[in-house]
Amino acid sequence: MELVDILTRTERYLRDKGIDAPRLEAELMLGHVLNMARMRLYLQFDRPMAPAELDALRPLVLRRGNREPLAWILGTVGFHTIDDLAVRPGVLVPRPDSEALVDAALERLELNQAAYIADVGCGSGAIGLAIAMERPEVRVYATDISPEALATTRDNVARLELAQRVAVLEGHLLTPIPDKRPIDWVISNPPYIPAGDIDALMPEVSRHEPRLALDGGKDGLDIYRELIPEARRRARCGVIVEVGIHQAPGVADIMRRAGMTDIFTRKDLAGIDRVVGALTPQDG
Ligand SMILES: C[S@@+](CC[C@H](N)C(=O)[O-])C[C@H]1O[C@@H](n2cnc3c(N)ncnc32)[C@H](O)[C@@H]1O
Repeated sequence: MELVDILTRTERYLRDKGIDAPRLEAELMLGHVLNMARMRLYLQFDRPMAPAELDALRPLVLRRGNREPLAWILGTVGFHTIDDLAVRPGVLVPRPDSEALVDAALERLELNQAAYIADVGCGSGAIGLAIAMERPEVRVYATDISPEALATTRDNVARLELAQRVAVLEGHLLTPIPDKRPIDWVISNPPYIPAGDIDALMPEVSRHEPRLALDGGKDGLDIYRELIPEARRRARCGVIVEVGIHQAPGVADIMRRAGMTDIFTRKDLAGIDRVVGALTPQDG
């Protein structure tokens, strides 16, 4: 069979399985197996497919038909200025929306100024590593309670050659960072989906992504209630977090009650309030 036939069959299969962009995804998977840029596929439509290539492609297409996230299958995803961040089953796929959190943090981290940031719930490492790539003076503590997440972050730290500036630590919220270590900013994209909403989400999320990365308790705000007072106590500059839709006022209120000042929000590309931040009062 020729490449074009495989592409057409794969596209049809993925469409039947409810995938939104079946042609694009078929091209990405085929390109991945053949180690070929998508555009080059078009120049090789009549190229015969070898049995070994078909054997490599088939399980990937079946996994996608089962609605596993495409990024897990391809093994990498683009995030902010990082072209190929490693991701794998068991670890949340970083979302384009979260780039707003990175940008909000970069706005507050002055160029050429040393700073320590804690990326709490680091997952693949997306947030903290994207910040570290843009700010060579910044040091990052990346924390998570999921061993799969920590292993993925460690992979990405090695791939991006950031081991000198990023410490990957296992534990609950800020607890793995020793008390004597300085923290300037606490940055976090924590689990924030109300527990009762998860089953209604798209299958890639509800059936595959880890609950630990999604479930924010009854109203989605459980982690903020614990993390923000803790950040107020330990962060010298402030805290910046990603929030779910309609959660910004509730999270701003938690910051206010914790005694933080200068609360701000930032929208994502869809115009939704996606980031809330606040400063630690300097009088202690
Ligand atoms: C929404 S995901 C975000 C992952 C990554 N920061 C990103 O933006 O792609 C939340 C992460 O928080 C981690 N997590 C959940 N509860 C935690 C806790 N109590 N302490 C530290 N990390 C936690 C999960 O394992 C998951 O990796």
